[in-house]
Amino acid sequence: MTALTRLSLTDFRNYAGLTLRLDGRHVCLYGANGAGKTNLLEAVSQLGPGRGLRSAQLSEMTRRDAGRGWALAAVLDDEMKVSVALEGNGTAKRSVRIDGAPAAPGDLAERVRLVWLTPAMDGVFRGGAGDRRRFLDRLVLAHLPAHGRASARYEKALSERNALIERGHVDPAWADAIEARLAEAGAEMAVNRAIVLEALQGAVDDRPEGHFPKADLSLEGEAEIAALKGEDFRTIFDLLVDGYRGGRRRDIAAGRTLSGPHRSDLSVIHRPTGAPAGEASTGQQKALLIGLMLASATALSAGGSGPAPLMLLDEAAAHLDPDRRAALFDELSALGGQAWLTGTEAFLFEAFGARAQRVLVTEGAAEVVGD
Ligand SMILES: Nc1ncnc2c1ncn2[C@@H]1O[C@H](COP(=O)(O)OP(=O)(O)OP(=O)(O)O)[C@@H](O)[C@H]1O
Ligand SMILES: [Mg+2]
Repeated sequence: MTALTRLSLTDFRNYAGLTLRLDGRHVCLYGANGAGKTNLLEAVSQLGPGRGLRSAQLSEMTRRDAGRGWALAAVLDDEMKVSVALEGNGTAKRSVRIDGAPAAPGDLAERVRLVWLTPAMDGVFRGGAGDRRRFLDRLVLAHLPAHGRASARYEKALSERNALIERGHVDPAWADAIEARLAEAGAEMAVNRAIVLEALQGAVDDRPEGHFPKADLSLEGEAEIAALKGEDFRTIFDLLVDGYRGGRRRDIAAGRTLSGPHRSDLSVIHRPTGAPAGEASTGQQKALLIGLMLASATALSAGGSGPAPLMLLDEAAAHLDPDRRAALFDELSALGGQAWLTGTEAFLFEAFGARAQRVLVTEGAAEVVGD
């Protein structure tokens, strides 16, 4: 099991101070709009790599009237103590402790696996390639925490190359050096994406047929396609280097870099109809997303051999009919980890029965209700 059995917050969003003691079952947060349900999920998401469920700046999460950073302390499975804090709003990094000892965020990533589903993802199939790329990279990061460092190196080299290109005259030796770094990080990103896509597709294929339709996933991007074909790192690197070098003239004309993994896309087909997911109905898209999230959770726990993930589902229950809602709760329970769900009313979670605890959230306070 992997479950939070205690969560304390200090000056996090609308929580001045909160301690929630839990028994390891799933957690259903209910309460009025604006009460602080999503804030609680965002707090839990700070146990993972990256900026969390809202992709917010760390300082934005500091309670408005406090202004000196925030802190979160969690106990996992009644034994491991984890604390994450932003020590002052000027700081760019979270400080992490595991059982009292300073730890790198990467250490945490090995022990806590997180997936989430939020209303902000609803438009992902209809939106632009950038939205889908971020959606994919978030999944990749959950599986391979080192993906974050590769992406950061890539972004840095990309902005250097773009700066060079904007000036309109490119010193070839300088461009060679930047493009080599770009290709190095880019090849790593492409390989990571391919690995996770395959794991995800495998988990999708293994899921039972039911209320959440299956998706056929593929990657659109030269480097990713090569990685999926099993080409080695060097080949993918060369492919990217050639693309950047050959594209210099075009990129100078455009004023930016037009090839590389920062342009890739995730293609999703709704398997039951064979149509692109973007053309599916709103409800079908939601169900597809839930299916992907469940598959990702399965893949993350490596089919049960790794730590079971924490699953955060913001407002997922309200959009489902009662049968699908019950099916979701059954699937979450079968996964073995702990799910955190939000909704405005407790009745939404009825079908969970005794498998979940209910927590009433009211303006910066939260308490366990019932048994
Ligand atoms: N940094 C902050 N400091 C203090 N309060 C904040 C901060 N950031 C957000 N809030 C407050 O938190 C509240 C929103 O909380 P949250 O989004 O968790 O609500 P919710 O319970 O999920 O509501 P809904 O059902 O509408 O989704 C708002 O009142 C907002 O003003
Ligand atoms: Mg909310």
